[in-house]
Parts: sequence; structure tokens; C-alpha cells
Amino acid sequence: MKKAGSASDPLWYKDAIIYELHVRTFQDSNGDGIGDFPGLITRLDYLQELGVTCLWLLPFFPSPLRDDGYDIADYVSVNPSYGNIDDFKRFLQASHQRGMQVLIELVVNHTSDQHPWFQAARHAPPGSPERNFYVWSDTDQIYKDAPIIFSDTEKSNWTWDEKANAYYWHRFFSHQPDLNFENPAVMEEVLKAMRFWLDMGVDGLRLDAIPYLVERDGTMCENLPETHAIIKRLRAAIDAEYTNRFTLAEANQWPPEVRPYFGDGDECHMAFHFPLMPRIYMALRQEDRLPITDIMARTPPIPDTCQWGLFLRNHDELTLEMVTSDERDYMYFAYSADPRMRVNSGIRRRLAPLLDNNRLRIQLLNSLLLSFPGTPIVYYGDEIGMGDNIYLGDRNSVRTPMQWNSDRNAGFSGANPSRLSFPVIMDPVWGYQAVNVESQLADPSSLLHWMRNMIALRKLFQVFGRGTMEFLNPENRKVLAYIRHYDPASRSREDTATGAARNVTGPGVETVLCVANLSRFAQPVSLDLSEFAGMTPVEMLGYVPFPVVTEQPYPLTLAPYTFFWLELQAPSAPAR
Ligand code: NOJ
Repeated sequence: MKKAGSASDPLWYKDAIIYELHVRTFQDSNGDGIGDFPGLITRLDYLQELGVTCLWLLPFFPSPLRDDGYDIADYVSVNPSYGNIDDFKRFLQASHQRGMQVLIELVVNHTSDQHPWFQAARHAPPGSPERNFYVWSDTDQIYKDAPIIFSDTEKSNWTWDEKANAYYWHRFFSHQPDLNFENPAVMEEVLKAMRFWLDMGVDGLRLDAIPYLVERDGTMCENLPETHAIIKRLRAAIDAEYTNRFTLAEANQWPPEVRPYFGDGDECHMAFHFPLMPRIYMALRQEDRLPITDIMARTPPIPDTCQWGLFLRNHDELTLEMVTSDERDYMYFAYSADPRMRVNSGIRRRLAPLLDNNRLRIQLLNSLLLSFPGTPIVYYGDEIGMGDNIYLGDRNSVRTPMQWNSDRNAGFSGANPSRLSFPVIMDPVWGYQAVNVESQLADPSSLLHWMRNMIALRKLFQVFGRGTMEFLNPENRKVLAYIRHYDPASRSREDTATGAARNVTGPGVETVLCVANLSRFAQPVSLDLSEFAGMTPVEMLGYVPFPVVTEQPYPLTLAPYTFFWLELQAPSAPAR
């Protein structure tokens, strides 16, 4: 008997709106300056009202916290600073009761060097089962083709261990030794950890750093067939024992390398679309749709049960690994005037500061996030336009406490301000007196209310999560225009991908025209909508009918940085 997840539709993750947060910085309930599960539970009403449907928790396991919890010292318990397993269970149940699923981290490429497995490995004799939990070598001259990811901090992927008298392998910080997936005992432990959380009722697992599981000399040690074989085993175990769960691949790779992480629908259900994200910022700054249309044209189709994970910002730097070196220079120039804003190959800033706090630009980018093919992921605080603190080290610039109100510590904690795990933002523009949930709830014109409306609107139409996308090609490249189309009767995405014999009427069929002006000036555009002649575009926010489409080019005018979502309604379509 398989163990059921909390969602009823097996493909629920395609319609989800994911909200990413860290327990540590969301809400402190006991005044110790550190967020915790009881605190998070008190904020679930807020999240439910925002309309998000799946909560992604950053790592909350016991950890020395030298990589914000991605350095795990115990896979099957809760960091005591955040509460205990019962608190987690209460949180899980309370989220499910509110119709929100829960996505947690499965970080299995590496552990903390404080994990008992690593401590045992260092002290155990070479060749012993304990030693073989990690990847050791007498020389640091192998696997030299593997790039160094944390290039600001690490000089090598090997570190010498005095106790073991050998080098150990790590793709991230030197305090994060990589597990050895050649050892079947490692796989057994990973499966145990996975089952521990899935048995409890967790709905999804983000597979951190998944391309790096296996090493082979003479390769970059990324995306190897052996790594895919391991993911297939994890997936097979999930499919055999559970229903309505999903896995999300964190594979920061080019589209052709990410595609295999979906397998034939037998690896991950979802994968982040890393290369799209920087190109959205590039297109905005260049006022040219090409970076977006180009990367989407290079994005291969994925199996029907699979889905892209889309995001504008997250807890890491805005990564520029998936752009060319010219594009990287451009992005640094355009978005990181102060060198402090840079880390490794990326920019450590939040959404609103990146967009100069320009409300129209913030809305425009969110409109793309919510209307592109995939599941949108909102990073906590971006729904109120929170700022960053580039004077904090590493990526902590974008990890400051949630700003709830203008009280002490932004309402995040009652602790002495000096005790907070990260300081709250206090400057005049981004400080919690200026940017907080309470004031935005009281202001009907706030970004928060706008986000709530947009999320609610998106949820009314399955086309956004499930439909096809086709770009239109108007002469004015400052305008990005695309058709989203969903026909539940169509067998696969490919059936409707080219629009050749698109069925625009019928039960559940939805067609939406999205048009976005990437320019800071007003723009005219003329669209070839002849395929939809006779249909009425209805503006979806105001439910305003626009002139009927004819065989002639369809003219639209867009104010700076604005967008339209227009539902194309057939003449006989009943009113919604
Ligand atoms: C990816 C995570 O997103 C990042 O925060 C972390 O530092 C690395 N994996 C290493 O675990």
C-alpha cells in the first residue's frame, strides 16, 4: 500500500505556487533571535492569504550553519534552534490543513564535516566501510577538470585531512565533504533519510547539487550517467512507495544538460530553469526580448509529467554560470555597480534593489514569472519588495529577517536586537519602517496586494501551469508577446506545441495572449493573431473586452514596463 501525499492530483506541482523561506529568518516565537517552527506556524495564515500553495523550507536540520544549513550534521532531526520533530510535524499538519504542500531539502551530495559519518571516516583505516562513506585520495591531482564552484573561498576541490592522512573531495566549501555514491551503504542511508521525511507526509524534495554525485577522472564530474542512475533509483523508490510527491532538481546547467534530469519521466518531476533567469534581467536592461526568446528556443521539450521551476531570485546569488562571458560582464556592469554586490559567479542582491525599486519593473518581471511555462517560485520578502544588506558576508545579504511591521526587529523577534541571527534591514529606503507586511496590508495599492491579486488570477487558469507556449514575432523587439494554450483533451504538449491545428474551443480549453513592454518608454506593437480571427481578447485583471481579432495585424499600445494578459474568448464562449 503506497503512502499518499497531501495533494489529491498526482500532477499538483504543475499548478503550484511555491514560496521559498528559511525557518531561521521568518518568525521567532521564543525571543532568542532565531526563527523557529512555532513562529512559522503563526505566519501560515499570512502565506495562505498570499495564495501560495507550496512552502519550500531551506535546510532546517542540525548543522554548524557554515553554509546556512546546507552543511548537514544529521539528516533525520530538526536543528534545536528551530524546534523539534514534533514542532515540524505540527507545522506540516497546519500547512496541509490550509491546503499548502511542503517541499524540503534533500542535500545528499555532501554533508558537514561535523557529521558523525565524516568523523568516523577520518579515524577509520583506509578501505574500511566507514572510510568509504566519502571520496578520498592520496593525491590532489585527479578530477582536475571539475570546476571550483565557490571560487571566492576555495582554491581546490581537495582538502588534506591530518587524521586520515589523505585528501577528501568537496565540490563546495572544504567543510562539506562529498559523499561517496560508489559505496552502496551511502545509498542505503540516503534512502533512509528520504523515507523518514516522506513517511511523515512531506510532499516534495529539492535535490540539492544533484549533478555532482559521482566523480570520474577526465570529466568535469558533472551530469555523469552514473549520477543519473542514482537519481533513477531514488525516483523508483518514491514511485514504488508513495503517491503525489515530487522531486525538484537543482542542476545549474545549460538546457541540454538539464533535460536528462527529467529522464523519460523517471528521474525528477521538476527542475529549475537556471539559464532563463539571468536572461530575463538582461532582456529588461537591454529593452530587447531576444535573450528570453533565444533561451526558450534552446529549451528542449520535457515529458508530460514534468515541469520547469521558475524563479526571479532565491537564497543564493543571482547566478551567472549559465551565461557567456560577455553576458556575464554585461550583467555585472548593469546590476552590480558596487563590487560588494558580487560573489562567486553572481550577484548577491534581491529583486527590488536589482530593479532600482521601480514598481513597474517589479510587476513586469513578476508577470513573466507567473505566466511563463512552469511553476513559479517566490522568494520570501520579494512579495513586499524587501531590500538586501550587502555589508553581510557571503549570500547572507539576501537572507535578512522577514519584515512584518515597524515594531522592534521588524516584528520578527522580541529579542535584544544585538542577538538576532542576522540583523534586520534598517536603512531609510529598505528598512522595516518603510517596507513591511503590516503597512502593505493596510495599503490597497501596495505591491503585496498586487501580488495577491496576480497569484489569485493565475490560479483561476490551468493554462499557466500546464499549457504550451508560443512566441509571436512582432517587428518591435522591445515587446515580448506569447500565446499560452491549454487543451485538456490533447494527449501531449507536443500535440499543441506548434499551433498548427490548435483547438480553441471545447471544455477546459484556455488560450491566453501575454504581451509585455520591456522598455522604459511607451511602445506600439502589431501582432499577427490571424489564427484567432473572430475571438475577443479579454483583459484578465479588469475583465475588459478588447476589439475583436481579425485577419489584419492587431495593434496594441503599451505604457512603459506594462503588460497585458488577454484571454482569447471564442464568440460562443460562455461567460466565466
Ligand atoms: C546549493 C544551495 O542552493 C546553496 O545555498 C548551497 O551553498 C550549495 N548548494 C551547497 O550545498
